[in-house]
Amino acid sequence: MKTVIVVHGGPWAIPDMLAEASVAGVKNAVQAGDVILKNGGTATDAVEKATWTLKNCNISCAGHGAVLNIDGEVELDSIIMDGETLATGAVTSVRNITNSVSLARAVMEKVCFSSQIHIGIPVANDLVTELERKDWEQSNSYPDGVKNHDTVGAVALDSLGNVACATSTGGIRNKMVGRVGDSPIIGSGGYADNRSGAVSCTGHGESILKVTLARLILFHMEQVSVEAAMSGRRCYMGERVKGCGGAIVVSSTGDWAASFTTPRMAWASIKEDVLHYGLNPKEDFTEITGSLDDR
Ligand code: GLY
Repeated sequence: MKTVIVVHGGPWAIPDMLAEASVAGVKNAVQAGDVILKNGGTATDAVEKATWTLKNCNISCAGHGAVLNIDGEVELDSIIMDGETLATGAVTSVRNITNSVSLARAVMEKVCFSSQIHIGIPVANDLVTELERKDWEQSNSYPDGVKNHDTVGAVALDSLGNVACATSTGGIRNKMVGRVGDSPIIGSGGYADNRSGAVSCTGHGESILKVTLARLILFHMEQVSVEAAMSGRRCYMGERVKGCGGAIVVSSTGDWAASFTTPRMAWASIKEDVLHYGLNPKEDFTEITGSLDDR
């Protein structure tokens, strides 16, 4: 089966000075996930790797440099889901691990553990960056409307026909301490089922939660095309709860889409050696990736 991977770096009003780096970040992440798929890796491996790469690109910083809560602290939420078994792992309010999707995966696979050290995930002492501290000091509302959330996500279809999704976020700047957004909630921030496909959502968590957006998109995908399901559900969230955001999706037959209602969202996909990417509404640039599997 032909493999597919789609990633996004978060929907928000990305300023021009960060536009190029945001696109480079998602292209890099989708290529990292694609290499895994081309070498026979699983969809779960690919989405974990892609989100890990996004988090470390210094643009989509849903890890080190994540938005701060009202007390000026980082609290990360993440989910990962395997569409073959419907196994899911999720974590909330993580304060000292950069790649919280890997922690979510450990929850999914090991179910129970007593210490992060035993599962080999590095602990980071301080995820707060000077830049985010400065932005946080200048913002006093929730959300602040400029860079109010920093979610990253990935969905993939592997060569065995299995799908997976991963979503990770610092949430929304100035959120209450301990707030849990949509990202770690099964069916809202993400969902994966081999019988339909995989979705990763991003945007205003309270709105996404109200409409269980990820599951809603998949439910409609079972009846109409990927594109129609995406645009219909995006409009539904806007009309029903006035929420904005975005989503990426791959179907179990390899169709995919990326969609958003914010001014910008950096996204990229690779299917059959063709890399698609965009930042502004309706943008879809293509490049041939060729020999990436030689990496
Ligand atoms: N979508 C991220 C959040 O609201 O927490």
